[in-house]
Amino acid sequence: MRSDGPLVVAHRGSSAQLAEHTLAAYEKALVEGADGLECDVRLTRDGHLVCVHDRRLERTSNGRGAVSDRSLRDLDSLDFGGWKVDLPESADALVTTDRPYLDDKVRDAERRVLTFDRLLELFVDSGRPVQLYVETKHPTRWGGLVEQRVVASLRRFGLVPQHRSPDAADSTVVVMSFSPMAVRRLRELAPTLPAVMLFDGLPRLYREGTLPFGATIAGPGLHVLRSKPRFAERIHEAGNQLYVWTVDEPDDIKFVAELGADMIATNRPSDLLSYLER
Ligand code: G3P
Ligand code: CA
Repeated sequence: MRSDGPLVVAHRGSSAQLAEHTLAAYEKALVEGADGLECDVRLTRDGHLVCVHDRRLERTSNGRGAVSDRSLRDLDSLDFGGWKVDLPESADALVTTDRPYLDDKVRDAERRVLTFDRLLELFVDSGRPVQLYVETKHPTRWGGLVEQRVVASLRRFGLVPQHRSPDAADSTVVVMSFSPMAVRRLRELAPTLPAVMLFDGLPRLYREGTLPFGATIAGPGLHVLRSKPRFAERIHEAGNQLYVWTVDEPDDIKFVAELGADMIATNRPSDLLSYLER
């Protein structure tokens, strides 16, 4: 456990209030004072990295089908924020609304698909120390291309250090995946970046707190710790760190903080910061 309390990681941005993975959601997380930003990354059909969680478009946009079947240009014509914010219903409403969603800047921030590079621009321009937690999705379909492109982008932005920080909490970028193979690839491509091994259940292999392929941070879902709270001790005894997702409710925040989580991913960074009295 970190002596100065857990790091607050904004899961998909400040995504309880604003549409997840939009620039606006990440800007809000920075303003609220989050220590880290979490994002999911996928490849478009034409090989661009975009920050989208689901394999398909339906839940978080007005498009249909798989993200990986669409070009970046296609995705750029979709609305990734309308499902979360109220749309004005008439032309009159458009004129009088205090949410002029056709304004280019607002559309960009609240509605437009967020490319990974645009997120990196925001991140490097943020003007204060903050961490980025990058999760690669669909690791098998593209045979490792997503990890290669992620690391190439990070290198282009100068975000892969020459030396590894002894404590992951001091690393500017942390990489992660549910796929051990993806973690392995990320570790090979960028050995100086710490890696989180994410999991939904508790694989037998990890029960003693050891993690595969040089990952040094265990990333169980909250439900895993609820059923096996002793696992937190095992992780720390093995010299690893604990990243827990996704923790929004007051009871859960208290539970996870008391277990000594090192990093907590939340859709509500301001609530977690208030609980921690920061
Ligand atoms: O931060 C890890 C967490 O995001 C993993 O789950 O499905 O929300 O990407 P998911
Ligand atoms: Ca994620």
